[in-house]
Amino acid sequence: RTRAGQGSVATSALTGAVDTRLMCQHSFQTSPASSPSATKTLPFHSVMKHRSNPLVLLLLVVTAIMLLFAIMHTYPTDSLNQHYVNPDRLQLDLISQRQDPKPVSPVRDLADLPMIYPITPTYGRSAQIADLTRLSQTLMLVPNIHWIICEDSWTPNRLLQLFLKDLKLNFTLILTPMPAKYRRLKKQPKGCTARNAGLKWLTDSNKDGVLYFMDDDNTYDIRVFEEMRWTQRVSMWPVGLVTELAVSSPILKNGHLLGWYDGYMIKRKFAIDMAGFATNVQFMIKVGGVEMPYMHGLEEDGYLRALKIGYGDIEFKADGCTKIYVWHTRTQWSSRGSPMIINSHYDGTNLRKLQSRIMLSSRQNWKINSSYEAWLIKEQFSIHN
Ligand code: UGA
Ligand code: MN
Repeated sequence: RTRAGQGSVATSALTGAVDTRLMCQHSFQTSPASSPSATKTLPFHSVMKHRSNPLVLLLLVVTAIMLLFAIMHTYPTDSLNQHYVNPDRLQLDLISQRQDPKPVSPVRDLADLPMIYPITPTYGRSAQIADLTRLSQTLMLVPNIHWIICEDSWTPNRLLQLFLKDLKLNFTLILTPMPAKYRRLKKQPKGCTARNAGLKWLTDSNKDGVLYFMDDDNTYDIRVFEEMRWTQRVSMWPVGLVTELAVSSPILKNGHLLGWYDGYMIKRKFAIDMAGFATNVQFMIKVGGVEMPYMHGLEEDGYLRALKIGYGDIEFKADGCTKIYVWHTRTQWSSRGSPMIINSHYDGTNLRKLQSRIMLSSRQNWKINSSYEAWLIKEQFSIHN
């Protein structure tokens, strides 16, 4: 059941427990330097034969020197190799020097690390799986994660199911459809049912750790998770690319909060973006009754007010809010999913399988947008060629 309690909203949970493992290892290997090839010397008797001609001898000496020079530059010996500068090779060396052998999240005894519960609202659209791929592969680099994925839908989305089947992360999937009365609004409170369901799941199962509202289209530096991991009540940090100001952040002076730098200040006690704070789960449970209001633009503020915190309770992170570890990116959907792929021309080709991996918008939608016919002509033209 969803927290919204709007009618009978069926909510199912599917929990996958898969160990997070190191999925790939980078090894930087230089190929062994080619061994110098044996130099061909002229047979002794042929040199002797032309002993009388000093010009031939001079020519031979010059050729030998040139040959030696060429060999030295083509096949450097081991000792020469140390001083040998090849621009391509130099580039490779520089790249390898930039690698940091220390993992960003030092894996200590995992049992010592508090769990992090990212709560991610998501919904079907052409870029959904691309966005979730970026998110999941970020999360795979973070230890002790349990991902709460909340789908804004009445029925499980087939593409999301396919994605989760291969996911190498602990996760819980909850169906959290937005109630119809909010769906009808021009400015919808996006992701509220999702986040409230995540809060309820954490409360009902009395979890320990830290919760984070992790929208599915943002870009997350894995360092943000280590910043939030030891949150006692509520921690905060800047978020890049929010509104036309390009950054949203608490304003600090000598560690004290002076106010908020944010492009959307109106009526907000906490003018901060959803991606800019995390909460200790036990703290949230102890406060009790914490929910996110269905109010467009006031979701974060309403939630933080419900936690009944004062400004003095906030733990400021990211080096005194001087670093940006999360970006409020928005994925542009350049593709609407043309139904042209179902054209019988493609029967028996790989496109039949690809068709099941993308979202198709209905033929009708394309006709409304009047470009479908144009596309169809273009596509048939390319087939007949
Ligand atoms: C901004 C804020 O960063 C969000 O935290 C806030 O929820 C949102 O505005 C809002 O308008 O309420 P923005 O990039 O404009 O985010 O919104 P989206 O990224 O489109 O949506 C926020 C989250 O809700 C995403 O995780 C998205 O997948 C989800 N969502 C969106 C749904 O679950 N259903 C929808 O119909 C739309
Ligand atoms: Mn977004």
